[in-house]
Amino acid sequence: MRDTEGPRARLAEAMPPAWRAAFLAVPRHAFIPDTVWVRRGGRPVALHRRHDPDAWLAACYADEPLAVQLDDGDGSGRGYVTSSASMPTTVALMLDAAHLRPGHRVLEIGTGTGFNAALIAWRVGAAATTTVEIDPGLAQRARAALNAAGWPVEVVTGDGTRGHAPGAPYDRVVSTAAVHRVPYAWVAQTAPGGRVVTP
Ligand SMILES: C[S@@+](CC[C@H](N)C(=O)[O-])C[C@H]1O[C@@H](n2cnc3c(N)ncnc32)[C@H](O)[C@@H]1O
Repeated sequence: MRDTEGPRARLAEAMPPAWRAAFLAVPRHAFIPDTVWVRRGGRPVALHRRHDPDAWLAACYADEPLAVQLDDGDGSGRGYVTSSASMPTTVALMLDAAHLRPGHRVLEIGTGTGFNAALIAWRVGAAATTTVEIDPGLAQRARAALNAAGWPVEVVTGDGTRGHAPGAPYDRVVSTAAVHRVPYAWVAQTAPGGRVVTP
């Protein structure tokens, strides 16, 4: 059994103070797929958990983004990153900007691995957290990881630019999927005085 507590503590230490406990409590490696791609020399290089468990674990707790899907998973080898686990400091800065408080209802757009949803659930509770992912395979994988890790948030498969009306209103909408314009659905589904955070 490899030591995950040391790397986890070192990563948590680099986070904004309000989110250190969350990064200690939520094991990032439990959300990261067995194959990821890291950028080395300008191109994605694969790391396989089975072939190189030490490098894979180090990548899980490094402050860098990890590509978790290429080319929508079609195996074409074109090499376009279609889903990534965001860089941990970016995740923490966005969560900080969201000013999450216990009692808030939160909608996340772009579930990806489910790690960010677990951090949100750590703060506001799994029952108050909903996350939307457009890719059915990623949504299914994240749902399983969130359940296994003990944060059974609702994972909706769909286009997050429409928000998720059945759970509205939300106190916070946090999107980890980039958009050119803030979709009006996010504003309409946010309670008065709420906040929308998006890259
Ligand atoms: C940067 S990754 C998300 C990282 C994720 N929050 C995590 O903790 O691993 C962005 C994700 O948004 C998803 N996405 C892109 N467009 C979307 C949309 N319109 N609706 C929902 N999800 C979308 C992508 O499939 C991808 O998984």
